Amino acid sequence: MSFKDNSPSYRDLILGVNKKVPLISGKSVTAINFDNAATTPPFKSVMEDIVDFAPWYSSIHRGEGFKSQLTTKLYEDSRNIVSEFVNADFNNTVIYVKNSTEAFNKLSNLLYDPYKKNVILTTDMEHHSNDLPWRDKFIIDYISIDSTGRLNLEDLEVKLNKYNNYIKLVTITGASNITGYKNPIYDIAKLVHRFGSQLLVDGAQLIPHAPFTMNSKNSECNIDFLIFSAHKMYAPFGTGVLIGPKSMLDNCDPDLVGGGTVDIVTHDFIKWNESPQKHEAGSPNVIGSIALASAIKTLNKIGMHNIEHIEKKLTAYAISQIKNIPNLKIYCDTSKEIDRVSIIPFNIDGIHHSIVAKILSYEWGISVRSGCFCAHPYLVKLLNISSEFVSNRITNPDLYHPGMVRVSFGLYNTYSEIDILAYALNKISLNRDYYISKYENMKKTLFDV
Ligand SMILES: Cc1ncc(COP(=O)(O)O)c(C=O)c1O
Repeated sequence: MSFKDNSPSYRDLILGVNKKVPLISGKSVTAINFDNAATTPPFKSVMEDIVDFAPWYSSIHRGEGFKSQLTTKLYEDSRNIVSEFVNADFNNTVIYVKNSTEAFNKLSNLLYDPYKKNVILTTDMEHHSNDLPWRDKFIIDYISIDSTGRLNLEDLEVKLNKYNNYIKLVTITGASNITGYKNPIYDIAKLVHRFGSQLLVDGAQLIPHAPFTMNSKNSECNIDFLIFSAHKMYAPFGTGVLIGPKSMLDNCDPDLVGGGTVDIVTHDFIKWNESPQKHEAGSPNVIGSIALASAIKTLNKIGMHNIEHIEKKLTAYAISQIKNIPNLKIYCDTSKEIDRVSIIPFNIDGIHHSIVAKILSYEWGISVRSGCFCAHPYLVKLLNISSEFVSNRITNPDLYHPGMVRVSFGLYNTYSEIDILAYALNKISLNRDYYISKYENMKKTLFDV
């Protein structure tokens, strides 16, 4: 191997990287996790901070006890840490939810006006979480993609012109969870603002992997709303983030109501709190917010530019190692000029994606994801699947399930792990019949070994 592995110190930051997992052979190997786009493992620092905090954990917001005051302070301070991390200015408010999906649902509820036919512009490359929540409340249209799956910016301009004053929001992923393509969000923001509209960035796949600036001196490039999930950035415990203009969110009625959301209530009158409290009904997830703040501190220590650099090198190396494997097709433009996060989607011709994923796990202890990645319309376009097939598949669930295999890297993955992946994929590709007959009807789980 000609590349030097990442400094082991990055691996040392992660809990569980040395865990052994069983193989179908009965042996066990150190697990390789290439499913970081779904969820990352936790930072050790996050787990340590949670354990350190646990003895102080107490009721939040209205308690006068010392522990309550501390709990409240850490929860509220974490908003500033989050805000600084994404360079959001003081005009914004940080609202905590459960995950990105809940954040999209919340924002769609908050922006909904039953008396107006407002338009949401989204794209063909979105995760379902940035598509389905808008559908029942708005007229929705999709900015198209080109033949390589990249966003068609000319179509964005056409649609901005077409819907102009009716557009409530343009909502676009910062990076695709299938192809890893990064969208030029600051240029898009400029364009969207020229039409007097606002931009929401789905940061679920971007924020953990690259530096991000919501507000800069160049205000026309500002991102108006941002959504992301802590569990994809080394901080489990169920926190999602919605950031947006406080003045605007203060003017929206809450979608969930109850304790914490109000200033004054009588039997026939409610005065809501300001945001963020107004939009965080019930007792909040303190541990989740502390975990996120802790993860951000560790990410800052490593440096987001550094992380981006490490992951770009890993991705380029992986592409170079797998692209010439016989029968293997990569479903994105892999040229160096393309700005991307650390995701590679592929298939091995003649063998179902779910079987490839299973073989990688059962034979080599490698975790990857396979399927449609909660972005069916994008996948259908990338795979060139006909609308006729889609219609047939809707009525006949036994028909072939299209999909891909996806590998996605975190800052702690290594070149040696990629070498094992490339070796495994080569072997699978050259011995397809053997592996298909072994795994096609395999009911055994790894618990049965
Ligand atoms: C691009 C993108 N957006 C949104 C989501 C939804 O995130 P969550 O599952 O944390 O709600 C995901 C999850 O994979 C994603 O990749």
